[in-house]
Amino acid sequence: EEEKSTVDIGFSQCIDNDIWRKSMEHEMGIEASLHSDINLKIYNANRKAKNQIRDIERMIEDKMDVIIISPFESDSIVPVIEKAKAEGIPVILVDRKVNTSNYTAYLGADNIEVGRIAGRNIVSLSKGNANVLEIRGEATTTPGSERSLGFRQIIKQYPGIKLINIVADNYGRPKDDYIKNLDSLNKIDYVFAFNDIVAYNAWKIAKGKGLDKKIKFVGVDGLNGPNGGIQLVKDGILEATVLYPTGGSDAIKLALKLANNEIVPKNNKLSTILIDSLNADIMSNQFDKISIQQSDIEEQQNVIKDQVKKYSTQSNLLKMVLVL
Ligand code: FRU
Repeated sequence: EEEKSTVDIGFSQCIDNDIWRKSMEHEMGIEASLHSDINLKIYNANRKAKNQIRDIERMIEDKMDVIIISPFESDSIVPVIEKAKAEGIPVILVDRKVNTSNYTAYLGADNIEVGRIAGRNIVSLSKGNANVLEIRGEATTTPGSERSLGFRQIIKQYPGIKLINIVADNYGRPKDDYIKNLDSLNKIDYVFAFNDIVAYNAWKIAKGKGLDKKIKFVGVDGLNGPNGGIQLVKDGILEATVLYPTGGSDAIKLALKLANNEIVPKNNKLSTILIDSLNADIMSNQFDKISIQQSDIEEQQNVIKDQVKKYSTQSNLLKMVLVL
């Protein structure tokens, strides 16, 4: 068989219109552009499990070298993952886990640890005495259930903390009327939300009731940039956020290793850390530096592409001259 000159990587993203996911795709694009042989194709399932299955079917048909998936649902996707594996295509899962161990590698931060970090933060701020509202993500996704699990593991050790639970809908809005009721919200001292968007939406509700200064909000994700969680911490809207890296560039690096038949660990853990007013500046400076380096690299890549174009027109001209 002839050696292929490109590494074809397909990525199935589950959710559109979401800054965390856009940032993941951006990172992937940059990492891919560093390797001229990588051909990255991104599909978005728009929050539909059946779209995601269709996209992965397509990637199998297209004989991708590696398939990266950020799963929407953990059950319905299992057969198509197993099909890819049976066809000999390595599968990398990012962020959410699925109900099969028949994949090649998983990449993501430990969501139980994420929940514990948030729990410890609220315990230490409140000295173990507070009414805490937890706004959970969908329990059908592993980040949703694991963050909550870790959070409760810590909180339940403190009898002085009363925990109230509600859930957020798929679009990051707190679902329950509890939060919209002034009397009930008035009793709350801390909110732990599944992610920064949910935390911010809860803060807006509290602000509408004049309770935004009284309640402290803790979220998850800690994206850098104007709409991200780090900025919300700097603005004093969030008390803290727990960093949850998207893993975009690591996913591409892993895919490349797999395409080169290297053995990679099955579980690839990304690191997490609490971001609060003490380190928000340091964190955003670090991330800014990385983005500046990335845009320098992008610029260099464009220069190289231009050069290659010029070179190929020149060499075509030369060939024409030689033919004449
Ligand atoms: C984005 C998001 C993030 C969260 C992750 C969990 O779609 O909700 O905020 O950390 O997905 O799956």
